[in-house]
Amino acid sequence: MSDRELRLGVNIDHVATVRNARGSAYPDPLRAARIAEEAGADGITAHLREDRRHISDADIDGLMEVLTVPLNFEMAATEEMQAIALRHTPHAVCIVPEKREEKTTEGGLEVAKDENRLAHFIAPLRDAGCRVSIFIAADQRQVEAANRIGAQVIELHTGAYCDLHAEGRFDERDEELKRLQDMAAFAHACGLEVHAGHGLTFETVGPVAAIPEVRELNIGHFIIGEAIFRGLEPAIREMRAIMDAARA
Ligand code: PXP
Repeated sequence: MSDRELRLGVNIDHVATVRNARGSAYPDPLRAARIAEEAGADGITAHLREDRRHISDADIDGLMEVLTVPLNFEMAATEEMQAIALRHTPHAVCIVPEKREEKTTEGGLEVAKDENRLAHFIAPLRDAGCRVSIFIAADQRQVEAANRIGAQVIELHTGAYCDLHAEGRFDERDEELKRLQDMAAFAHACGLEVHAGHGLTFETVGPVAAIPEVRELNIGHFIIGEAIFRGLEPAIREMRAIMDAARA
């Protein structure tokens, strides 16, 4: 794994979304993953949803075969997904909430309310050597619960911060950013590795990249959209440059 201080995981789900809109074989998410690697991505993220609306089982097979950087396998806490993860043992798994009717992962996982089940759920994944990350809102109860169940990593949900920015609600955006900063510091002090992601764009990534405890950002939708206009490699290089500038 890259030992860069702030890693970039490129989420390729929406290459598959475009492919599936036509039921064709292209654009190929594996080709996107290889370009992302060349553009300096430190990892590739893919979410195998229960309804297979974008990434397919065959995509995961292919990614496990061709990737030279680690795969971060996003999944819901279901038995089916656990079995798939245990078959592949990717470098990392990120446990996310999943609702069929949602357009994207809307909120963080309710770890605090489901602690026993989640502790038993992640134990075999950890034992198999996967780094287990839990996707949560910037909420101390959730950080504490993620720590108690034995996760090594939390990924802070940046969706609310990005939405508030897009809506021009800058005071509330700054309050949410403060929560992200505080929870990154708190989680780090608990011994957890801190990641962040969801909804990040060229405009919003800087302040999150600047949070010193954050070690990895996972970014997809904006990069894939921007690739339509400037190409995938330049879109990733620009995101990386903004992250590096913010960190410096
Ligand atoms: N991190 C997690 C846990 C996610 O579920 C997603 C969306 O799949 C992302 C990061 C990336 O979000 P976006 O595609 O909005 O950049």
